[in-house]
Amino acid sequence: MKFLASLFAASLLASTALAQSAVIGSPAPGAIVKAGSNITVEVDRPDTLTGSTEVDLIIGFLSCNNINFPTGVCPPASEILGTILYNGPYDPEFRTSGKPPYQNFTVQIPADANKGSAQLSVTHFSLVGAGPFPLLEVLNVTVQVV
Ligand SMILES: *[C@@H]1O[C@H](CO)[C@@H](O)[C@H](O)[C@H]1NC(C)=O
Ligand SMILES: *[C@@H]1O[C@H](CO)[C@@H](O)[C@H](O)[C@H]1NC(C)=O
Ligand SMILES: *[C@@H]1O[C@H](CO)[C@@H](O)[C@H](O)[C@H]1NC(C)=O
Repeated sequence: MKFLASLFAASLLASTALAQSAVIGSPAPGAIVKAGSNITVEVDRPDTLTGSTEVDLIIGFLSCNNINFPTGVCPPASEILGTILYNGPYDPEFRTSGKPPYQNFTVQIPADANKGSAQLSVTHFSLVGAGPFPLLEVLNVTVQVV
């Protein structure tokens, strides 16, 4: 019984965490970006009943076409973020009808970024529920630098 109760609590926690997940709405996977240009990173946070408090959001950029990554594939973003393009508050709001709460960030692709694949990551830290519990997630999208 106790086991079942804790199993239930754990799965409740897991599903609550999933529901609180952010999603990279833009750029789309494979999007072409120019070195040195400004791009919009849209971070969506689907609306949920569980309250949460946003703590911080970090946008990182890592060239995968790099002498350190001979296969041209980046290591997991949770291990290396690369250049920090943004580090600050996240305020997802209903801004466009038919879309979940989100916020757009304008960030500049490094002018000296290598051509080819690059990993754009979004690290999202929030406090969820009444506990609350800390939720840290690292999302990524691969773009092509030209
Ligand atoms: C990119 O944005 C920065 C600051 O937001 C601005 O200073 C710069 O002029 C912009 N660059 C371009 C190419 O639009
Ligand atoms: C990148 O995100 C995808 C889902 O969009 C996920 O399947 C993959 O594990 C992530 N990769 C890294 C390196 O974090
Ligand atoms: C946010 O960015 C997305 C993707 O570029 C765009 O469709 C949307 O109109 C932008 N929203 C605002 C308020 O600028």
